[in-house]
Parts: sequence; C-alpha cells; structure tokens
Amino acid sequence: MIKSSGNKTKVAVFISGRGTNLKSLYYFSKKKNSKFQICIVISNKKYAKGLFFAKKNKIKSKIFTFKNRLKDELKVLKTLKRKNIKIICLAGFMKILSKEFIKKFRGKIINIHPSLLPKYKGLNTHIRAIQNNDEYSGCTVHYVTPKLDSGKIILQKKIKIFKNDSAKSLQKRILNQEHKIYPKALKMILN
Ligand code: GAR
Repeated sequence: MIKSSGNKTKVAVFISGRGTNLKSLYYFSKKKNSKFQICIVISNKKYAKGLFFAKKNKIKSKIFTFKNRLKDELKVLKTLKRKNIKIICLAGFMKILSKEFIKKFRGKIINIHPSLLPKYKGLNTHIRAIQNNDEYSGCTVHYVTPKLDSGKIILQKKIKIFKNDSAKSLQKRILNQEHKIYPKALKMILN
C-alpha cells in the first residue's frame, strides 16, 4: 500500500507513444473520488502522440531521450523529486529503467503489460499467444522490479482468443481491457 501526504497521490506517467493508457488514467483521476493526480508525463519520444493529449489537458510533460540512460535518469529523478511524485505508472514506456533507478522508487513503479504474465514477457505478445494456439491472452498490471516484466502482479484480465483473431484484432480487445484494469489497479494500491 502506498501512503502519501496531502490529498491526492502525485503520479508520473511514462510513455513512448500513443498514450491511450495515459488517457484512461487521466480520465479516471478526474473522477470525483479519485485518490491520485497525474502531475507529469515523461516521454522518451519527442513526437509521442500521448504528449499532445498531455498538452491539451494541461498536464506538464518532459522529454528525455534516455540515449544516455544514466544521465537522463538522474534528470528524471530530480524532476520527480521536485514534483513530489509518489508513484510512477509506465504506460507503453518502451525503455528499460536501470536497477538503480528502480531501487530509488522501490515498490512505487507499476507497469501495464499486454499478456497474461508470466507468459510472454517482452515484445510481440499478441502474435506469440496466437502462434502458440493459446486459448486466452490478456493484460497484467504489475510492480516493476529490475527483472523485466517479473514483479508482483496487482491485477490481471483474461481475454479469449478467437480462431480468426489477428495480432491486431486481439491487441484492440486487450487494449480496451488495459484501459479498465490500469486505473483499477492504481486505485487498489492507493487504498
Ligand atoms: C499497451 O498495449 C501496453 O500494454 C504496451 O504498450 C501499449 C501502449 O499503448 N506496453 C508494453 O508492451 C510494455 N512492455 P498506449 O501508448 O496506447 O497506452
């Protein structure tokens, strides 16, 4: 459980692209009884679509390419400290954070992953599930540890794979569920 001083827990969302999970977290944060607020969006991509959403909704954002990971992580840490961020939500953030960074936010970084972990860590999860003739796939919200996609699971949603599913159709159905379970998982750990 994560405790925070003040009214709402200050959250940072890290993105690399589209930002639909950022959107769902943001809309949830605007609900009446929400316990968190998104104070900053960090992107490693200058033109990440999610940055436009952040701008439109007046959420502060910063870009760090992470090309020099160590240097950029130090800058990110400074920014997060200045803003009193208590939780980091990785939402389609496609960079791997260093052990040192994760340790500094131990137990306070969560991630959404498009598979039923521990199955299909890493990339191309949908096609791998289809090619293995799995009956189900899904999505998982989990704590981030130095070992990729391996931290404790907070919430998971199982989705049936249909015979005629392509990676794209499956991805679409799973993404819809991601948008539901990510805010729910965040709410759970804040309670
Ligand atoms: C989501 O499907 C998320 O689960 C996945 O990237 C997509 C981001 O979409 N994350 C990973 O694969 C992380 N390993 P979004 O930018 O629209 O939220």
